[in-house]
Amino acid sequence: MKIMVVGGGGREHAIIKKLKENQSVETIYALPGNGGIAADAVCVGIGAKDIPAIVSFAKEHAVDFAVVAPDDPLVLGAVDALSEVGIPCFGPNRAAAVIEGSKVFAKNLMKKYGIPTASYEVFDTPETALAYLKDAHLPAVIKADGLALGKGVIIAETREQAYDAVKTIMEDKVFGQSGARIVVEEFLTGPEVSVLSFTDGETLIPMVSSMDHKRALDGDRGLNTGGMGTVAPNPYYTPEIADICMETIFLPTIRAMKAEGRPFRGCLYFGLMLTPKGPRVIEYNCRFGDPETQVVLPLLKTDLLTVMQATANGTLASCKVEFSPAHACCVVMASQGYPTHYERGFEITVAPAVLPHVYVAGAKLTDGKLYTDGGRVLGVTAVADTLEEAVKEAYREVGEIRFENAYYRRDIGLKALKAKEEVK
Ligand code: AMP
Ligand code: GLY
Repeated sequence: MKIMVVGGGGREHAIIKKLKENQSVETIYALPGNGGIAADAVCVGIGAKDIPAIVSFAKEHAVDFAVVAPDDPLVLGAVDALSEVGIPCFGPNRAAAVIEGSKVFAKNLMKKYGIPTASYEVFDTPETALAYLKDAHLPAVIKADGLALGKGVIIAETREQAYDAVKTIMEDKVFGQSGARIVVEEFLTGPEVSVLSFTDGETLIPMVSSMDHKRALDGDRGLNTGGMGTVAPNPYYTPEIADICMETIFLPTIRAMKAEGRPFRGCLYFGLMLTPKGPRVIEYNCRFGDPETQVVLPLLKTDLLTVMQATANGTLASCKVEFSPAHACCVVMASQGYPTHYERGFEITVAPAVLPHVYVAGAKLTDGKLYTDGGRVLGVTAVADTLEEAVKEAYREVGEIRFENAYYRRDIGLKALKAKEEVK
C-alpha cells in the first residue's frame, strides 16, 4: 500500500513510524515531512496547506490511504477534497473540523448539548468586549475564535491585560480573521488531561490519557509553547474519572456532532480540566496532539493502519483497540530561545541506538547530515514498566543526542510522579 501523511512535525513522524509497522505498507509519502522524517518516508516538497497540490499528488501517485494530521488542512477541507477524488482518508471533513476551527462553534455546541465546560460570552466587536470586561470576574480567559497557532488564549489577571488582549486580537488582528470574534470564559482550575480518541462518528474509543507540559520553563513557568514534553498515562485520569468523561463528555460530543449533521471521523482530542466540580472541556482539537502522539502511539498495541481504516470506513465498532499497560515519557529538545527568537542550522547527532525513539519536528537534511531548523527540534520517547523508569530513560536518551544551543525542560514527568503519590 501507498500511504500519504500530510504534515511535517514530530507528531507526523510518530504516526509514520507506527504506520510502518504494518507489513502491507510499501511507501509512505510525507507532505512536506522534514529532514528527520526523510529517514522513514519519502518527503515531498508540498506544503500541508496546499490542498490542490496535495490532491494532484495523491492522484498521480495512486495513493491508497491518506492521513491528514495538522489542524490547518483539516479546517480548510483537505479531507473533503481528497474524498471527492476517491482517496480514502483519516481525518474529519471540514464540517466536523470546525469543532477546533471555531471556538465559538465548540462552546455553543457544548452549551446546546449540556457538555460541561467553562461558562462564556461571545463578542464580535471590541466595544462590547471591553464593556463586558469592565466588571468581569478576574482572571478572565480570552480566546480568539479561530486557529491561532496555539497562541490564541490569553489569561488576563488584571483589567489592563484583559483590555490589551482585546486590542491585540480584535483591533491589531495579530491572528487575522481568527480574531474577528472572541470568547471570554470563566477561569477554571485543576489538573489538565489530554485524551485523544478514535471515532467514526458513532463509536468512540479513547486512547491512553496523557499530560502535556506547555510552558517553556521548568516548574510550568515561562511562555506557552507547542508542548515541551508529555507523559502517558496521566495519573490524574483515574478509571472513575474516565467513566465520567465517557458519559458526560465523549459520547455526548460525538452524538452532538452527528445531530448537527457533522459526524466526526478521525482523531478527536479532548483537552480536559479536572476541576473541583468535575471534568470540564477546555478545548477540542480535530486531530492528534503534538507532542501527545509521541507518547500515545508508542503504547498502541493494535495496528494503527487497521484502526485508521476502520475509523474512516465507519467500522470502528468491530475493531478492538489495545494499549500496553506501560508508561511513556517524551522530552522535547528545542532551540535555545524558543518560543521567541532562536538560531537554526546546528548539526544534530543522535546515537544510533536512540534513533528509533526520536521524533523529529524541525530539522533539515543537507548532504546526509541533519541540522536544526525550528523551535522544537525533536522529541525522544522512552517506554518502561513504570513512570519513574520511563522518565529516567528518556533523559538518558536526551544525553545521547547533541546539537549546539539545545534546550529542554529538566522536569518532564515530575508533576505526574508527584500526582501518583497524591492519587494513590
Ligand atoms: P488552549 O490553547 O485552548 O489549549 O489553551 C491553552 C491553555 O490555556 C490551556 O492548556 C489551559 O492551561 C489554559 N486555559 C484555557 N482555557 C482555560 C480556562 N477556562 N481556565 C483556565 N485555564 C484555561
Ligand atoms: N499539545 C497540544 C496540542 O497539540 O494542541
